[in-house]
Amino acid sequence: MVRRPALSPRLAGLGTSIFAEMSALAAATGAINLGQGFPDEDGPIEVADAAVAAIRAGQNQYPPGPGIEPLRRAIAEHQERFWGLTFDPDTEVLVTTGATEAIAAAVLALCDPGDEVLAFEPTFDSYPAVAALAGARLRPVTLVPPAYEADVEALAAHVTDRTRVVLVNTPHNPTGKVFTGDELGAIAQVCVERDLVAVTDEVYEHLVFDGRHRPLASFPGMAERTLTISSAGKTFSVTGWKIGWVCGPRELIAAVRTAKQFLTYVSGAPFQPAVAVGLGLGDEFYAALASGLRAKRDLLCEGLRVAGFDVFVPQGTYFATVDIRPVGGTDGLEFCRSLPERCGVVAVPSSVFYEDPADGRHLVRFAFCKRTEVLTEAADRLAGLRGGS
Ligand SMILES: Cc1ncc(COP(=O)(O)O)c(C=O)c1O
Repeated sequence: MVRRPALSPRLAGLGTSIFAEMSALAAATGAINLGQGFPDEDGPIEVADAAVAAIRAGQNQYPPGPGIEPLRRAIAEHQERFWGLTFDPDTEVLVTTGATEAIAAAVLALCDPGDEVLAFEPTFDSYPAVAALAGARLRPVTLVPPAYEADVEALAAHVTDRTRVVLVNTPHNPTGKVFTGDELGAIAQVCVERDLVAVTDEVYEHLVFDGRHRPLASFPGMAERTLTISSAGKTFSVTGWKIGWVCGPRELIAAVRTAKQFLTYVSGAPFQPAVAVGLGLGDEFYAALASGLRAKRDLLCEGLRVAGFDVFVPQGTYFATVDIRPVGGTDGLEFCRSLPERCGVVAVPSSVFYEDPADGRHLVRFAFCKRTEVLTEAADRLAGLRGGS
């Protein structure tokens, strides 16, 4: 038997994903799973049909490493159409295995051991993990509820000689915050003044209910130093397809591609033409996506309020965060582990998104990307928490 610990000390702090634990709990107890962020309905039929047609037509072998040309072109057209950003599909767009791989490949490509990555926390759980994979360190700047305002002065104060990357997620998971133009402008200024590369995670770019999404790359001085990342999962309700992309200046994209080719080499052949179809859908598709989710947000947030939680209403994404203290909770992890038993609903403790779990101890995240009847049933069940039942 090998005597040394199997897991490298570099990764020892990472543990098992909370989503796996909570989804397993939902499966074991039959509870409604408002933990992990995936829709329970399929996306546009044209997109699904295009994937089926691609499989039938034999697009089942390794596609080109950077992604098929029609998808790279569709991504570039999408960036121009929605955000006024111009990218050369041949050199400035790379298709990846979800946004997760794009983020990982970007951090691995840019960071050396000992380097630092800045991000606003709570952070999506892959960020500290990919920093650890690179031997780098994630240095968080905390967004404090209820306003979750970005403290850009604190961000600037965290920049050191080892800072390489600022990782910005807007719309933001788990808070549902959409960064304002002023916040993004100030972040851009820090990046320019301190010569940092920005890596942006914009997977919820089309799921905005209040305010307006603006890519960091559109701010002065940022196009030349930003890797803009998104994916098909949330926009087309195909989270299992894992088709993502990263756009940016040629040298940065070449660097990310160097890492990507040895992570996965290529990404899901038959899904690529299907995502190209999705990106070309009309404005009415995108408008209906946001308005449908806005109604679901309102439904769940109202249910959470009625149940007695203090609710931080999200401006975008799939998620609403609550303070559990008004319903007698103190520790979110304990609360989430007992919730299926108590009322048949699964949620996720926000503490897992903080470097110091104590900072998010009283916060819990619920997903509302579920069918209306599922959310209504969840709200009914949560109402049972009132009075300690
Ligand atoms: C902020 C954020 N980034 C990235 C991802 C992962 O995206 P993908 O499934 O395309 O890898 C998610 C999924 O939940 C997310 O919430």
